[in-house]
Amino acid sequence: MSAPAAERDALKKAAAIHAVRFVAPGMTIGLGTGSTALHAVREIARRHEAGELPGITTFATSAEVARAAREAGLPLLDQTGPALIDLTIDGADEVDPQLNLIKGGGGALLHEKIVAQATKRQIIIVDEAKMSPQLGTRHSLPVEVVPFGADSQQLFLEQRGGHPVLRTKEDGTTFMTDEGNLIYDCTFGPIADPEALAAELRARSGIVEHGLFLGLTHDLVIGTPSGLRHLQRDPRTGQVKEVAVD
Ligand code: A5P
Repeated sequence: MSAPAAERDALKKAAAIHAVRFVAPGMTIGLGTGSTALHAVREIARRHEAGELPGITTFATSAEVARAAREAGLPLLDQTGPALIDLTIDGADEVDPQLNLIKGGGGALLHEKIVAQATKRQIIIVDEAKMSPQLGTRHSLPVEVVPFGADSQQLFLEQRGGHPVLRTKEDGTTFMTDEGNLIYDCTFGPIADPEALAAELRARSGIVEHGLFLGLTHDLVIGTPSGLRHLQRDPRTGQVKEVAVD
């Protein structure tokens, strides 16, 4: 059983604060979406206000985080954003031992993946409940589709064994992404070959994006009750090593 929400939030916050130590003056920073990433936004804003981060600029992965960044007084780039981002700090819904991820629980997967692919160093921050032996074990896979022909995508995902459920908001109305698209939350179960599934989903017209983030993580900071863990993945070899946390 995972820890109560307040304890988990403290672990998320500790991971976020650690990750923000890697933010340096003059950097362009990608801001992730979700409750963990929001802790990072607040810590970046605190350091920025304290004068520790002159010359930084930020790029937000959702309207929600853009609002938070603006309110916190962070310099924010507009929609078209930077060509290249120095460092992005983002959360995840599920993380496997190779630091592959399922993301999109907050619905920002498309913008998050665009930002991740434009980023030189992607730091993922989680509490330990997100760690998983195989993607799909703990979290459903969000699949973002354009509204046109959405029923045909639902059938496609059903036939692929994904048991798709159209995402709705708390009030029961259909959830729409920042790009005006729909999300099907799919339960494939443990995904034996994420690369193959990603390729299959990518090849389908009308599917705009999916929540498999493969090979995009450089660093993972995990909040655990016994302290922080920092893992690093070598982008060339894919090897993951533990880094000392001081
Ligand atoms: C947003 O679309 C997601 O990818 C989030 O990064 C993910 O859902 C993690 O959210 P929490 O930090 O709130 O758990």
